[in-house]
Amino acid sequence: MCGIIGYTGPRKATEVLLSGLSRLEYRGYDSAGIAVIKGKKLQVTRKQGKLSVLIEELKHSPVGGHTGIGHTRWATHGAPNDTNAHPHTNHEKGITVVHNGIIENYSDLKKELIKKGYVFLSETDTEVIAHLIADNYDGDLLKAVRDTLRELEGSFAIAVMRREEEGRVVGARRDSPLIAGIGKGERFLASDVPAILEYTKEIIYLDNDEIINITPQGHSVHDKNGSPLKKKISRITWDITQAEKGGYKHFMLKEIFEQPDILRRLISKRVRKGRIFFEELSISPKDLAKIKDIAIVACGTAYHAGMVGKYILEKEVKVPAWVDQASEFRYRDPVIGKDTLVIVISQSGETADTLAGLREAKKKGATVLAVCNVLGSTIAREADGIIYTLAGPEIAVASTKAYTAQIATLFLFTYYLAAIKKVKGHNEKNFINEIKKIPEKAESFLNAYHTKKNVLGAYAAEFHNYYLSRNNKSCFLYLARNINYPNALEGALKLKEVSYISAEGYPAGEMKHGPIALIDENPWVVCIAVRAATYDKMISNIREIKARGGIVMTVMTEGDELAKDKSINYVIEVPDVREELSPLLVVLPLQLLAYYVAREFGYDIDKPRNLAKSVTVE
Ligand code: M6R
Repeated sequence: MCGIIGYTGPRKATEVLLSGLSRLEYRGYDSAGIAVIKGKKLQVTRKQGKLSVLIEELKHSPVGGHTGIGHTRWATHGAPNDTNAHPHTNHEKGITVVHNGIIENYSDLKKELIKKGYVFLSETDTEVIAHLIADNYDGDLLKAVRDTLRELEGSFAIAVMRREEEGRVVGARRDSPLIAGIGKGERFLASDVPAILEYTKEIIYLDNDEIINITPQGHSVHDKNGSPLKKKISRITWDITQAEKGGYKHFMLKEIFEQPDILRRLISKRVRKGRIFFEELSISPKDLAKIKDIAIVACGTAYHAGMVGKYILEKEVKVPAWVDQASEFRYRDPVIGKDTLVIVISQSGETADTLAGLREAKKKGATVLAVCNVLGSTIAREADGIIYTLAGPEIAVASTKAYTAQIATLFLFTYYLAAIKKVKGHNEKNFINEIKKIPEKAESFLNAYHTKKNVLGAYAAEFHNYYLSRNNKSCFLYLARNINYPNALEGALKLKEVSYISAEGYPAGEMKHGPIALIDENPWVVCIAVRAATYDKMISNIREIKARGGIVMTVMTEGDELAKDKSINYVIEVPDVREELSPLLVVLPLQLLAYYVAREFGYDIDKPRNLAKSVTVE
């Protein structure tokens, strides 16, 4: 949570910082601020609210200078207001800091600093860092930062400047992401690549407890003892247009529509000459062959993708597989060992709970495979093996394209593993033929249900009217069985996140054990009843809901006779596909429905309240 940026070079720092912050806003957006040095003057501007408020303020009081740091906040310590907004400054020594993360021992440090006479103006943990660096400063900023890091507990990525040192920014990280950008005669720091991609594609990924010093002409990286480090410069292969809206009103909609292409690219990258490959996976087939059980660990949408993975892995690889929310896994002393493959799934690769789960699994001797979207992220680097999901930058807080890319990756990995383990009856060729058809089918669905006629938009408008007509009493229930049950949870999560409408997902078989009591004319019940082994059971569930006056929206297979049943209120038909691959298509209308309901209510879809794109704190 929170995004940070730093710049030094010939450009106007304010412009670079604001443009970078606009691309980091997905990490937090309750306040924003920048600090710029000009001559020996430090100008700090901070505002509560979205970045647009800060931009407006800077229009009235412009700030000149070519060296600066910036921050977009997701509050952890102290309310989101001007005073708690970053940067935080020690005025006496002119030390100013932006920070992403949580300083766990800040309260003890603060007490010590107060005893020494430091005056705190905010309620944040970050202000402690500014005063501590000032306290440690005796003529060498780099050393002062290094000494400060030794005293800090918790997670952080920081960018630091000293008023008297125009043309210099120091950065450091521990368990929160920080990258450096190398340009011609300019250098950048940022939480994430899209923030600086407009200016450079040459990136250094910093590791834990590394400190970087940037000036326009150069940079140096040091370990926690001050020894210089030689860091690899990576070249980013994707483009800034991939991180922009490309004509769509919201990133969420753009990302929904990117899915067919992402799946196409992903499949063609992984399948060569009829076989599945993972170039970057550094766990050997020999080690994978020894795996006796599989634990999947993730949060939120990635957890739902993991649930789909569990179904397919167990079915095809014939080993026990289970899935845990990372926040539970990390504290429940799971029974895993050297024969366990732990698959951690994360779009950002920075989620604190998932990272802790990964570390816990390694501690217990398991082999950890990360399924991750962000190149060079902490989870990607700490795992024993990595498979990238190749979805490109996901900007909307509500995850869509990362989900389908995670599921497709898990499918491919399943068949790869089944081949390694020589599972009887396993048919990689047949699976490859089928999955290759998915991108086109996804495209044809989006075409029919959105481009030609915005069916989900119309359903959402009806729901909105219904909701208002019932004094805001309606809600959603999502029901499914088997491999689409995770989609019921995902559909409900998407709707909750962006439209703030109460929504629950259930395995349809559970209805009689309680949730059916909810059925009257209020909830809209989304029933996933595509062609599947449990199809008849789903139809019975639908009949039971209808018999109790419920409003039913079904997601069914194209051409299903059920579509003609007039008692079903809303019908969505997805292209026919074999059951195990259906989650990739079924989720599309659920994503669109959530998007359009939120749009009807006029909410800020890409930045839902209280959320942040990557949850790097517990
Ligand atoms: O970056 P990660 O995949 O680790 O993030 C996990 C969850 O925080 C994330 O999926 C969250 O639930 C999304 N906002 C869902 O749309």
